[in-house]
Amino acid sequence: MFETKMPNGFLWGGAVAAHQLEGAWNVDGKGPSVADVMTVGSTEKDREFTGKVLPGENYPNHEGIDFYHHYKEDIKLFAEMGFKCFRTSIAWTRIFPNGDEEEPNEAGLKFYDDLFDECHKYGIEPVITLHHFEIPLHLVNKYGGWENRKLIDFFTRFAKVCFKRYKSKVKYWMTFNEIDNQASFNNPFLMCTNSGIVFKEGQNREAAMYQAAHYELVASALAVKIGHEINPDFKIGCMINYASIYPATCKPSDCLLAQRVADRRYWFSDVHVNGEYPEELEMYLKRKGYRQDITEEDRQVLREGTVDYIGFSYYASMTVASDKVDADSLTDLDEAKVHNEYLPTTAWHWEIDPEGLRYGLNWLTDRYHKPLFIVENGMGAYDKVEADGSIHDEYRIDYLRKHISEMEKAVALDGVNLMGYTPWGCIDLVSAGTGQMDKRYGFIYVDKNDKGEGTLARSRKDSFFWYQKVIKSNGAEL
Ligand code: BG6
Repeated sequence: MFETKMPNGFLWGGAVAAHQLEGAWNVDGKGPSVADVMTVGSTEKDREFTGKVLPGENYPNHEGIDFYHHYKEDIKLFAEMGFKCFRTSIAWTRIFPNGDEEEPNEAGLKFYDDLFDECHKYGIEPVITLHHFEIPLHLVNKYGGWENRKLIDFFTRFAKVCFKRYKSKVKYWMTFNEIDNQASFNNPFLMCTNSGIVFKEGQNREAAMYQAAHYELVASALAVKIGHEINPDFKIGCMINYASIYPATCKPSDCLLAQRVADRRYWFSDVHVNGEYPEELEMYLKRKGYRQDITEEDRQVLREGTVDYIGFSYYASMTVASDKVDADSLTDLDEAKVHNEYLPTTAWHWEIDPEGLRYGLNWLTDRYHKPLFIVENGMGAYDKVEADGSIHDEYRIDYLRKHISEMEKAVALDGVNLMGYTPWGCIDLVSAGTGQMDKRYGFIYVDKNDKGEGTLARSRKDSFFWYQKVIKSNGAEL
């Protein structure tokens, strides 16, 4: 019916983030980040931000999967699968342990030099996020995180150091991971990981979010400008957590609500791409008196620092109903959510919707007319290790197969301009949301459990060999 192969040069690969796998949290001069003071959680229990390292607590990111010492072995396995690219982040706290120093930490810079060299040895292109839920703890405790304008300077200094140092080793960059997560501003975990904000009693959370996000967007735009000056060949993208948003019924009030939810979630990428705030949001902010601190210079920076592409994660879609909240009363998007009865869910209650990915690729193309990059997609699942050590993860293959198939339709039939596909957690790692190891996404199994026990030995799951075949055939064999 259509050509299932992806275009030549398509970036097949996998994605991770520094704090979820590197470990070595206090090695070679690294400072603590917010992720280093997050306890382990579970499906029933949230992770807790303890503000400092407390004795007797289990902090799963301290060791991760010790990628810091295993990266050569792991990159070799990625190469065996045929990866063309590898998405990870640079831990800000390896380069600036506290975040506000004048000079970077050479040992931290050297680690990423070695890591990128190792990737290039196998022809694997690094794809790098600068800010992925790992803000230096010191910036939270001393400055209040992104609520403080000073963070723009600290972040751009960090970005500049990275751009200069890796200008011939890294071409693809992203500034802020899933910047739109904080549209759920009542969620303390998301506000802490996104913006380093720990709410005070009685604080207006929504107001804090809009101000912090503004500083982040200015910092991102400045980084884009600086990056392009350092190397005009850089491709610098934004990164959003994309969910296709459906009205619960065809009732006009549901449709209007779905539109409003999308506007309140994707205004972040509107600013990244268009260099200005969308009209409806400007009206809303004015009405509420939020985002008081915005200057003419900020607006100029936003216009000048627009992104080259849109990186996004896709895990699930979102369905909203106006009998819960109507479009005009909407503040917190989570209040509008309902379960979509047509969709199955994962063990962690995430709705599985492969067609939503095709819908999203089209929706983002229509809204932005920019190249797209799927930089996360996947399903967290419990894996069972058989007596002979094999792992038959047919459910993971099924999930990915269906999503890749919809992605291929979007490219071959709908004309979407897609740069690449990097499924999340290509090697098992610490879950961001729950801190668990047993919520696994990988093609590569890592022997470690939620209690932190295990040998850290790596082994290939069935999905490893399946994905190897997908890449080899450039998407033709699913
Ligand atoms: C995205 C993040 O939200 O989803 C990743 O960018 C995260 O850091 C991934 O790990 C999956 O979420 P979780 O909670 O299952 O780890």
